[in-house]
Amino acid sequence: MKLTLLKKFSILSFLVIGFLAIVLAFSFSRFSENQLMELSAQHTADTAKILISYSLLPEDFEDTISDKRYEVLYEVFKNNVLSDDIKHVKVWNKEGRIVFSDNKDAVGAVFPINAQLRRALRGYVTADFMDEKDRQNQFAEYDRHQKYVEVFVPIILKTGENKTKDIFGVLEVHQEATPLYKHIVQGQKFGWFFILISFTALYVSLYQIVKKASRTIEEQGNALSELTGRLDETMKNQEQTYVGTIKALLTALDAKDKYTAGHCSRVTDYAVLIGRVMGLEEEKLKNIEEAGLFHDIGKIGIPEHILNKKDTLTNDEFELIKKHPAIGATIIESISYFAHQSSIVRHHHERWDGRGYPDQLKGEEIPLEARILAVADTYDAMTSDRPYRSRMSKDKALTIIKECMGTQFDPEVVQAFLKVI
Ligand SMILES: [Fe+2]
Repeated sequence: MKLTLLKKFSILSFLVIGFLAIVLAFSFSRFSENQLMELSAQHTADTAKILISYSLLPEDFEDTISDKRYEVLYEVFKNNVLSDDIKHVKVWNKEGRIVFSDNKDAVGAVFPINAQLRRALRGYVTADFMDEKDRQNQFAEYDRHQKYVEVFVPIILKTGENKTKDIFGVLEVHQEATPLYKHIVQGQKFGWFFILISFTALYVSLYQIVKKASRTIEEQGNALSELTGRLDETMKNQEQTYVGTIKALLTALDAKDKYTAGHCSRVTDYAVLIGRVMGLEEEKLKNIEEAGLFHDIGKIGIPEHILNKKDTLTNDEFELIKKHPAIGATIIESISYFAHQSSIVRHHHERWDGRGYPDQLKGEEIPLEARILAVADTYDAMTSDRPYRSRMSKDKALTIIKECMGTQFDPEVVQAFLKVI
């Protein structure tokens, strides 16, 4: 099945635009998720920082805290951090040990420092959806129907007399994120919808533009083929006119020289057969066929009494006869449709050894079609009755042709002719 330009475009652009829309929608989802998460994390961090600055001490991060200290911190976190939203807190030191948690069982546990913890230890607030399966998250119970976000806030305390700020650990807060999650999903839905509508509109407009363009191209194509058709017809008519002209000339010649008409059609038949044996392409065969029919048309310019003379021709008369190829070429040249064949007509009496007429061309200087016509022409002339002599036998004519191989005739053409005969 061959696809039209419009169909090809529709399929291709649908795929490209669809792909772009999906990439854009996913990027947008990811971006909006990150943005909201960051905002939420920052809010939690801001609240926690105030608390951290007055409740945690540098020594809390060194050894396991006493029960008394735990009670104090627990009260602070319970009253200021833990709420309906914030379910669970952990305070990590730089070695990955939990130094405080709302769940006392977690205190003292050590875990490998993960990527988020590492980032927070470098001073950045980070947040992500919580993975409940993570071992370090097994210390609290979570509602399976809720989404949770874990926020990591670097704990920066002032130490020494100069009160220089230093990172001592990380506060991890597990926050219920269902409202946030709903916000994100809502935003994503809106984004997807907006992208879908925009890209559909883009696709439809492009489709319309290309549809219109392809219709214009189709119309132009139709107009062009109609024009070509008319031109072809005109050419055909013109061709008929040319052929008519040639036929009229040949008829006139036939009236002057009874021998010409039959001779020309026989020469043409021989020549085309030789051409086929030599493996010539169709265009050259067509040239031979046409030029063969009118190769002697120049005889129209030779007086009738010379053409039909029964006695031997005088030198002057023969010189006149020798003009017929040139006269013929001039006639053919004036008819543009056949003009390219004028050289075949002009050189059909040239000889392979360069002693022919009118231009004494030699060997392959002579057009191949003319070399072929020369052999066919001579054979037919020898085997036909002429005003001044009667025909000779085919065998004798063939012997003469063979004898003239390489002098009068192109040897290759003669070889092909012998196959034809
Ligand atoms: Fe001739």
